[in-house]
Amino acid sequence: MLKTRIAVFVSGGGTNLQALLNAEASGNIPSGEIVLVVSNNASAYALTRAERAGVPARVVSRQVHGERFETELLNLLRQENIDLVILAGFMCILSKELITGFSGKIINIHPSLIPSFCGKGFYGLRVHEAALAYGVKVTGATVHYVNEIPDGGTIILQQAVEVKEGDTPELLQKRVMEQAEWKLLPKAAEMVSEKILLGESE
Ligand code: GRF
Repeated sequence: MLKTRIAVFVSGGGTNLQALLNAEASGNIPSGEIVLVVSNNASAYALTRAERAGVPARVVSRQVHGERFETELLNLLRQENIDLVILAGFMCILSKELITGFSGKIINIHPSLIPSFCGKGFYGLRVHEAALAYGVKVTGATVHYVNEIPDGGTIILQQAVEVKEGDTPELLQKRVMEQAEWKLLPKAAEMVSEKILLGESE
């Protein structure tokens, strides 16, 4: 294996996917190659980003595939010989079968400093709303391995971000993305890709 074959799972705008594509194009993910983008949402702008970058993209959703959703995902990962799955704003909880089948080979980005503001129900703007409601002065982002517990796997990287006076959830979300998520995810992608190439485990 010359490079770790990466699939990026998305659901929405795909700014984290874009950060990964940009990092790869600039030579900052030398151990990995993004070979597939999977979206559970046919109208996700992330699909356009994949197309522009010339990366094959597929839509796999519960609406279209019903109970075969997970099987479709697994088949796709096997067909494409995927070594690493990066969840970049993927809004579905994966089955135990998929998670254990790819143990140590699925990573996720979460927009807070885990273990704060994470787990079931903490996604999107809700995370930043909760941080503001609590009144924390520092938040951030976390990249972690995925296990059966939502946002509960081993932490790979974290970056703190300041909460400012007058922040709205939207402003805070933007700052966390710019100052933490878009830097952290490509960095973690390279770290884990290298580990996989070297045959090291989580
Ligand atoms: C990000 O905030 C990420 O941390 C969370 O979902 C959001 C996805 O944004 N898991 P984008 O689609 O990458 O723009």
